[in-house]
Amino acid sequence: MFLEEKSKVPKLGVNIDHVATLRQARGGLEPDPVEAALMCEKAGCDSIVAHLREDRRHINDKDVVGLRKEVETKFNLEMSMNPGIVDIALKIGPDQVTLVPEKRRELTTEGGLSVIKYEKRLSGITALFNKKGIDVSVFIDPDRDEIRSAIYIGIGIIEIHTGGYSLARDKRSQAKEFKKIKDSAEYAMSKGIIVNAGHGLNYTNVKQIASIKGISELNIGHSIISRAVFTGLYRAVKEMKLITCG
Ligand code: PXP
Repeated sequence: MFLEEKSKVPKLGVNIDHVATLRQARGGLEPDPVEAALMCEKAGCDSIVAHLREDRRHINDKDVVGLRKEVETKFNLEMSMNPGIVDIALKIGPDQVTLVPEKRRELTTEGGLSVIKYEKRLSGITALFNKKGIDVSVFIDPDRDEIRSAIYIGIGIIEIHTGGYSLARDKRSQAKEFKKIKDSAEYAMSKGIIVNAGHGLNYTNVKQIASIKGISELNIGHSIISRAVFTGLYRAVKEMKLITCG
């Protein structure tokens, strides 16, 4: 169980979905998200996040089996409350599940999961996972009522949706979004909840979120994989040049 852990600086969870997105573009075997996960761990990340979507647009069933087998830090499986997905997750046994809303046509997770709306269903699903020693986190908007509802049904971990903050177009609206996140995080922490955050965080906007005292973990995917293309492209071309031109 990772629930008891509390650290002073936020841990980094790397979401490797978009390694699989690239693989799916050709429908082959590379790049392999499991291999990517191992490299992320070697680079010092604290957990690996993967979202098994109902439409399997990137991560697939074989990936989650491989990740469960190979990930040595913490395997955080992001997922909807779909019964079929819940069954798979219970079978796979990740260290943690993060429950998110899921719409088929969205490009990425668009909003937080409403704990208020799904209180009863969430409570049942949480009990199933907890019985197996799997921690449960819910991905929610920075909203006190949602946090109160999460506390009411006994959820110990929340991930605050930072999408509004990262998509803010000007300083004023970003400051407003940041305040919502900070206030919600502090409120939840004051009630003993473990608070994580993520979505849309990148190499410039992450610092402010990381400065919120007591945040346990930041989960970041797209910006890291995007950056990896450019930090790796030079070497990839050099290597191909060497092979083709000697
Ligand atoms: N946390 C959650 C719950 C998410 O749904 C996502 C997107 O899959 C992330 C973090 C990572 O977001 P991004 O890819 O924008 O960094």
